[in-house]
Amino acid sequence: MFSKYKEKRVEKIAISDIDLSNVPKHVAIIMDGNGRWAKNRGLPRVAGHKAGVQTIKKIANIASNIGIEVLTLFAFSTENWKRPEKEVKFLMELPQQFLLDYMEELMEKNVQVKLMGFDKQLPDNTLNAVREAEERTKNNTGLILNFALNYGSRAEIVNATKNILNDVINGKLEQDEINETTFNNYLLTKDYPEPDLLIRTSGEQRISNFLLWQLAYSELWFTPVYWPDFNEQLFLMAIYDYQKRGRRFGGLEE
Ligand code: FPP
Repeated sequence: MFSKYKEKRVEKIAISDIDLSNVPKHVAIIMDGNGRWAKNRGLPRVAGHKAGVQTIKKIANIASNIGIEVLTLFAFSTENWKRPEKEVKFLMELPQQFLLDYMEELMEKNVQVKLMGFDKQLPDNTLNAVREAEERTKNNTGLILNFALNYGSRAEIVNATKNILNDVINGKLEQDEINETTFNNYLLTKDYPEPDLLIRTSGEQRISNFLLWQLAYSELWFTPVYWPDFNEQLFLMAIYDYQKRGRRFGGLEE
């Protein structure tokens, strides 16, 4: 089994190897390794983030081509504010640049842009650019390109809990109505199916406060490749591996 898996990994995976009737509906990605990619080339860290934007374009394209419904990208965490001011500033300018460069293509591909995160702390320029893209793409019906910006899963869960409590106090929700389904409705992902697949690049194998509730039954896929070097081939490999897994959601195999 293991040798077969290894054998397949060196082969090229093409779209024709993918079962298009069984693609994951929702893929979430932790785009990691930009800094190390740049360091290996003697470049400043921000060069890695810049290169990472090109990878986003490639992956959004292939995800749209194979019929994925939601692609959630961890672009900036609630913890990333601790980084040097210059790097934070650079990262906050990327969504605007990306959307400026790529908007026509997003429209052609029928992509809907979405923001998921605590928007109040985002700089005006960043927030306005993403909100404008959301507005422009809101009638598109293809891939949802969901940017997690200033997102943290623990904060999201605490926030959901506070909102539930408020609604109970205000009589909008009965205490007995609190269950997993209602709780889910208070999360920032309430409109999307749970991620079927989580990909993390750069060799790190942890969740880093990303979608802790939503990833309960997701398949996890890791690659040592740094995000700027991640590409369509590797993405298809992840989907291919995903399709070989038996998902049981705590039950037994049929
Ligand atoms: C992790 O690599 C990456 C990030 C914290 C930022 C990811 C952001 C992008 C790829 C661009 C965002 C663009 C848009 C359009 C929203 P790291 O810096 O932690 O790398 P390291 O672990 O090697 O230091």
